[in-house]
Amino acid sequence: MTPKTPIRWRRKDLLGIAELSPEEIGLILDTAESFAEIGERAIKKVPTLRGKTVLNLFFEASTRTRSSFEIAEKRLSADNINFSTSGSALEKGETLIDTALNLQAMAPDLVVIRHAHPGVPHMLAKRIEAGVINAGDGAHEHPTQGLLDLYTIRRRLGNLKGVKVAIIGDIAHSRVARSTAKGLRAMGAQVTFVGPPTLLPPGGLGFATALRPEDVLADTDVIYLLRLQLERGTSTYLPSVGEFIRLYQLDARRLAMAPEHAIVMHPGPMNRGVEIAPDVADLPRAAIEDQVTAGVAVRMALLYLLLGGLQEAVA
Ligand code: NCD
Repeated sequence: MTPKTPIRWRRKDLLGIAELSPEEIGLILDTAESFAEIGERAIKKVPTLRGKTVLNLFFEASTRTRSSFEIAEKRLSADNINFSTSGSALEKGETLIDTALNLQAMAPDLVVIRHAHPGVPHMLAKRIEAGVINAGDGAHEHPTQGLLDLYTIRRRLGNLKGVKVAIIGDIAHSRVARSTAKGLRAMGAQVTFVGPPTLLPPGGLGFATALRPEDVLADTDVIYLLRLQLERGTSTYLPSVGEFIRLYQLDARRLAMAPEHAIVMHPGPMNRGVEIAPDVADLPRAAIEDQVTAGVAVRMALLYLLLGGLQEAVA
């Protein structure tokens, strides 16, 4: 299985969406389209990355991102090894740099890393020869989530240019909001961050902001909901979770204010009954499961471009 291969792809790492040009984003999404079909086959495996070794290093909790990477790696026949904080030498006092150098000594081709501190994937990318994919660094970036969101919107609405997206909730602590919004802007979509003033980043990071969902819903194509990042201290920025629910939850009444074609998205994990009413999450216009399915195809595309594309293009 060899999709149209890009002579233009020259990156070793994927550290953030902010560094990608619109052409590169378009290439990733087009490559993902050609990989999506493998997930619909009876035998969901191709030999594309046979002989390549991928290390998955998850220093922070993850269910869907980690399993999505693992499935993508397996579908492309790469060998993968999974490390998590518990049970690793970091618990025995080894520094992250020493861990990185030890991992480098095993000659992996690619490292996928999630870490609670912003910038750790960038540090690793400078120190090791292998490619590095950022699977989430603190509240900074989560580029593969951003890319799978763009893919899902393009699939559902047919376009990204001119699409109006309201990202609602805990923007301040969300790496997903940062990556998805930057990717959308690069592709010509219009993003508005919606949330209480204490959960909006300073200056809206250059994006439009609104304080109430009611201010934007009538003119929105995508309603993108975010979980309250309580593990990052969000509760100290809110009078109460109950008030957040009353003012921001997407329930049937608020959804009825949006155009009929508007879709509902969420990166997961969802807190049903908090940012999203339980019944809204299951409506056909909710694209939340589509996002998860898209995640595998988009990660396959990235693995292919980072590990296989260049060599095949050069060969
Ligand atoms: C998000 C994350 O980890 O940043 N989840 C994900 O990767 N799909 C969002 C979250 O934890 O709320």
